[in-house]
Amino acid sequence: MRILVTGGAGYIGSHTVLALLESGHEVLVLDNFSNSNRESLKRVEELSGKTVGLVEGDTADTACLEHLFREQPIDSVLHFAGFKSVGESMADPLAYYINNLAGTLALCRAMSHAGVYELVFSSSATIYGDGHPMPLQESYPAGQPASPYGRSKLMVEHVLQDLAASDGRWRIALLRYFNPIGAHPSGMIGDDPRGLPTNLVPFVSQVAVGRRDELVVYGNDYPTHDGTGVRDYLHVMDLAEGHLRAMEALRTRPGVNIWNLGTGQGHSVLEVIAAYERASNRHIPYRVESRRPGDIAAYWADPSKARAELDWQARRGLEEMVADTWQWQKTNPHGYQGGSNHE
Ligand code: WQD
Repeated sequence: MRILVTGGAGYIGSHTVLALLESGHEVLVLDNFSNSNRESLKRVEELSGKTVGLVEGDTADTACLEHLFREQPIDSVLHFAGFKSVGESMADPLAYYINNLAGTLALCRAMSHAGVYELVFSSSATIYGDGHPMPLQESYPAGQPASPYGRSKLMVEHVLQDLAASDGRWRIALLRYFNPIGAHPSGMIGDDPRGLPTNLVPFVSQVAVGRRDELVVYGNDYPTHDGTGVRDYLHVMDLAEGHLRAMEALRTRPGVNIWNLGTGQGHSVLEVIAAYERASNRHIPYRVESRRPGDIAAYWADPSKARAELDWQARRGLEEMVADTWQWQKTNPHGYQGGSNHE
């Protein structure tokens, strides 16, 4: 199959492009490199021994999309492109609504003009909001996401539901990711945040490698076993495989299909730090400050729907996630732009 991957040069996109190539698909990436680096795609080509088609452009650029679908036969679209920083979305909500919402609207319109109706969308567990019993099930009503980022994901879910209700040709997967971490075990591709990392594991990695002095732990007074926040961390390689399974499942599943992609296991901030210390053999200094606004004490997935319907299950545990993150970080201490210590 020939798959269009928007945001294919980004963190989750690049790992999924590799998985697609390795299972024999042809891949065309659409990326504007606003938060990614073309080096990731070179490394994906190196790892797979295959080439990746590339269109540099924006999902909100209608002319670019119409041209792309006119020139290239596409069977299925995996839509990763979007902004993903919670804090940034509060400072600049318009950028998030334009990029994440308007970008998806333009993409869907171009797809329907071209007669392409198969779409896998990167949604987020953040759409559940607060107040549900754990673990989170797909059948729970969407809550009130705490940020414009989260609301943009929920809005897109609503749009895609409406679209599928209006035209039975659409086959759509809404994949609700929990907390993706880790990297390809080679250490050649991984998460390369620009500026100060806001997510836990990229920050811990930069402390481990000596780029930052210490981590701030946001709160140790949550009602959890050690007082720190609990999340369902999942390996980006498992997440990539989940996309392949979802795409394959859409062959026989018209309409909208929602799947949680998580491990079903929660880990606290202190557990993540301890696991990272063991994997890296480095001490991670940290200090505790007050809670981060908008954070929830604990949430994790019920992944049983994906297991039953996709035959997908996260296979890699926390130790492997942080070991692979460390492999990436120590090989590329300054990310893609700093070059690699690989050779
Ligand atoms: C994890 C835990 C923090 C940083 C967000 C989005 C979600 C998804 C992933 C993505 C929490 C604590 C963090 C730090 C800390 N979006 N923490 N010190 O908040 O669960 O999810 O990112 O693209 O939609 O909401 O992930 O990694 O930021 O935090 O103590 O420097 O680590 O309080 O308990 P989160 P996170």
